[in-house]
Amino acid sequence: MGISYNEKTRIFKLDTPNTSYCFGVEDSFGYLLHHYYGRRLAADGVGYLTRTGEYPFTPDRNGREKLSFLNAAPFEYPMGGMGDFREHCLEIRTREGYNTLEAGFRDYEIRRGKRPLAGLPATFGTEADCASLTVRLTDDVVGLTVELEYTVFEDLDAITRSARICNQGKGTVWLTKALSACLDEEDRDFSMLSLHGAWARERGIQYRKLGYGRQGVFSERGVSSHQDQPFLGLTTPGITQTQGEVYGFHLVYSGNFEAQTEVSQFNMTRTLLGINPYNFCWELKPGEAFQTPEVVMVYSCAGLGSMTRTYHDLYRRHLIRGPWRDRKRPVLINNWEATHFDFDLEKLLDIAREAAKAGIEMLVMDDGWFGNRFDDNRALGDWFVNEEKLPGGLDRLARELNGLGLKFGLWIEPEMVSPDSDLFRSHPDWAIQTPGREPGRCRNQYVLDLTRAEVLEYVWQRIRSILSSANIEYVKWDMNRQLSDLGSLGLPPRRQGELYHRYVLAVYELQERLVRTFPNLLLENCSGGGGRFDPGMLYYSPQIWCSDNTDAVERLKIQEGTALLYPLSTIGAHVSDCPNHYMGRTVPFETRGHVALAGTFGYELDVTGISGEDRAQIPGQVAMYHRYNDLVREGDYYRLASCRENGAYDCWQINAKDGSQALVTYVQVMSRVNFPSRRVRLEGLEPGKTYRVEQTGQTYGGDVLMYAGLPVEPLSGDFRSRQYTLIRI
Ligand code: GLA
Repeated sequence: MGISYNEKTRIFKLDTPNTSYCFGVEDSFGYLLHHYYGRRLAADGVGYLTRTGEYPFTPDRNGREKLSFLNAAPFEYPMGGMGDFREHCLEIRTREGYNTLEAGFRDYEIRRGKRPLAGLPATFGTEADCASLTVRLTDDVVGLTVELEYTVFEDLDAITRSARICNQGKGTVWLTKALSACLDEEDRDFSMLSLHGAWARERGIQYRKLGYGRQGVFSERGVSSHQDQPFLGLTTPGITQTQGEVYGFHLVYSGNFEAQTEVSQFNMTRTLLGINPYNFCWELKPGEAFQTPEVVMVYSCAGLGSMTRTYHDLYRRHLIRGPWRDRKRPVLINNWEATHFDFDLEKLLDIAREAAKAGIEMLVMDDGWFGNRFDDNRALGDWFVNEEKLPGGLDRLARELNGLGLKFGLWIEPEMVSPDSDLFRSHPDWAIQTPGREPGRCRNQYVLDLTRAEVLEYVWQRIRSILSSANIEYVKWDMNRQLSDLGSLGLPPRRQGELYHRYVLAVYELQERLVRTFPNLLLENCSGGGGRFDPGMLYYSPQIWCSDNTDAVERLKIQEGTALLYPLSTIGAHVSDCPNHYMGRTVPFETRGHVALAGTFGYELDVTGISGEDRAQIPGQVAMYHRYNDLVREGDYYRLASCRENGAYDCWQINAKDGSQALVTYVQVMSRVNFPSRRVRLEGLEPGKTYRVEQTGQTYGGDVLMYAGLPVEPLSGDFRSRQYTLIRI
């Protein structure tokens, strides 16, 4: 395991338990060329794979004419302007207006451990966990150095990559594109796997066959977005959960991104990820450096399931921080779907009293507690408690809740300002805007220009003061629009192209201050549901609200797509009332509980107003949460069946890491009559061991459960669900 450099072949070899990644230094100029990424290799004899003798532009066959070479060679980090006509990672403009870049190998360093990325979220690991490699390339004409950073984790099939671009020349250089990573490899009839959606329909799974040219997923919305996930997978034909090859690329970033694959004339795929170059232009003065975000690459030759479990383990152990990562989170009740803006102290306490009786552990007060916020048209930015609604303020509410045995959590949306707010009236220049135009409104609000130090400082002081004013143990940090009308009144004209990225850095800075100042706080990120569900935000919060759509059947698809990459412990999921708020659908209370259990679990309803029959089920569901949460939070997740594919039922399994138990959840979405009985083949059990199914008392061999399948009970009615708990005996 680890990283090596062979002085003779000039090949770097990065090994994880089951994968190898090889690239090398080319002889003529010192270009860095990619050779291989896939199943683990014993040695580095892969240099021959890198063909450089493709046909040139003209009919003559002249071998290594420079442009033919550049336009076909598999570059580790391609650069613009020199004759590689495919998409590049790095593009610049010099003071004189030129864009040609050509950087060759200079030196390298291999070491244990992993360095943090300045100002950016990233995976982390100790010297025992991982090894890192820095390869330096230089362009002596421009005076630019590119440091390519790689990390391999000892016991996970994951490799991380990022780049740092340093101006060591005499003149200012403008970066017009600075992506994080590239992978050039032969097209093996790949399809592209990506996650698409919309508000309330986040992260739907999509495959499309690659064609010649460029294709990908992008965000130009200032955030990672509901619409596209900063992820791209390349899958071989017939990929399933257990068979086929997949290359996963996930960007640890929360702003505009590009994740693109280009199939070239020679049937090579070039996959690139990084900050979207749209409206990006970064001024780099002599002596300055620019750090790109990190890409997490995972290769699996055993289907999607193994890629998924690698991402889950990596994020749980090497991305999420803080004490709540490994702790059972309190079962919360959130008042949003119960009351919207229409609540006061008494209403909240009524909910709290009933919730406490049912075993719920925390009340989260959502939007509407501050300023003049009686609806969503006003008051964002006026972060002062509305004493009309809450006499005695947050402190009194917290005390009353604590007196009932409940913790207190609070919603905030600190990145925003309403045009109708005292804050905006005093500081109209604090919103992101283009002078001379009224910025477009979304949910009747503007985005604060957090790139200005005084704005960031003001917002931070408000957050700090609110959180210090009462015993607040949880925060839901919301963000209910995307960025438009890009312009900062605090940046000079030549730096306006830095605004998108600076905005993301400012959000990271605020959240870093928050988690450092309040280390025991449980933070849940949110953006109109799951509009900023990305690995960057997970560095600050161990959980993210997955979607405003709380309908349990819609959630099956949303949570399946989300769990393709994210551990269940991160997926904000609540039981809500029926007919569902947005969908109008009625699903049994039991099914709603089973679906929410495959996430953080909590409630989003007026517990005083639901039927007695539903309310009576809450204590049992809370007990179920306490029984299974360790397993759900820490176990191995297997997707056994998808209603998206079969049109009838969903099934997933979670195995304890020590193999002692497993939980299978089966949801029959559409009821059918006179159909064959159903079995689901389980995964990850020990073939020679026996398992008892708690709910039926039956025992089976692990081999039987995996190769023949667990019989599932025929259920009558739509949207019904069952749990099967397997105990190894
Ligand atoms: C967003 C969130 C919801 C709720 C509302 C409040 O839509 O996703 O959960 O907090 O804002 O305005």
